[in-house]
Amino acid sequence: MKDKVTIHSLKRFKQIGQKICMVTAYDATFAHILDQSGADVLLVGDSLGMVIQGHDSTLPVTMDQMVYHSAAVTRGAKRAHVVGDMPFLSYQVSAHEAVRNAGRLVTEGGVGSVKLEGGAEFADTVRAIVRASIPVMGHLGLTPQSVHKMGGYVVQGRDEEQARKILDDALALEAAGAYALVLEGVPLELARTITQSLSIPTIGIGAGRYCDGQVLVCYDLLGMNPDFKPKFVKRYANLHGSITEATGAFFTEVRQGAFPDEDHSFKATKSIRLVAPAAVGTGLLPEGEVAAPAEGEEKVGPVYGIPV
Ligand code: KIV
Repeated sequence: MKDKVTIHSLKRFKQIGQKICMVTAYDATFAHILDQSGADVLLVGDSLGMVIQGHDSTLPVTMDQMVYHSAAVTRGAKRAHVVGDMPFLSYQVSAHEAVRNAGRLVTEGGVGSVKLEGGAEFADTVRAIVRASIPVMGHLGLTPQSVHKMGGYVVQGRDEEQARKILDDALALEAAGAYALVLEGVPLELARTITQSLSIPTIGIGAGRYCDGQVLVCYDLLGMNPDFKPKFVKRYANLHGSITEATGAFFTEVRQGAFPDEDHSFKATKSIRLVAPAAVGTGLLPEGEVAAPAEGEEKVGPVYGIPV
């Protein structure tokens, strides 16, 4: 596709000062919608462990699950660059395993790049994956896979020592060949310094406005969970409310017998000859006979949802 976003487009966006818009996606239908609404990057985040699977951390997410969701998202995305998250323990054990797992996200999941959490200690791993021609996005600051080490989901880099370490990590990842960096849960002043120090783009989440782009979990920005409202999330919709209202209306109509009405029901055509099930086994048709679509019969189309 001519205007497909690539890692090179993202670098150019930084050079010309065009903000990068990234959002998470976990399935083909959402990917299709978000792609059409203008996302530059779709991140198949391991946040799916929380928002899709209902865990209280991203740690239980497996490689197989990331491959499965990545494949669904890449089927739905046409223009956006798709990034697949490397889940916990898929890259920490050895660079060898990291390359193999990153490769699975590309070959089986169809993603254009992978993301992993961590700084200078993973520079060699990043180098190995990049050497295999798989672009890598880094992720620094509040790194959810290190929740136990951090002692919770707490803002990182508030003091000078921590801030210095994050800046050094950012420089190490850039030198190792990362093409972009997610900065999560860090003060906006630190994010600004990092953004100005790197030639690769930074994409912030809870990192203030100076980053080269922004990312949010799509379920958060769409307001799917009224009980989750951290400071860095802005809700652009109330889908929890809309979904509750729509499904509630459906349930009411079903209970009242108002749905399905004539408009949402199929009619028999002359090609169907009804016989009492008792007369011929349990089927509607005489044995061996198949109902042919009648001339001009309405087509059902795809049975479920939108074709992507
Ligand atoms: O897993 C994820 O969704 C992420 C983003 C929040 C950056 O890593």
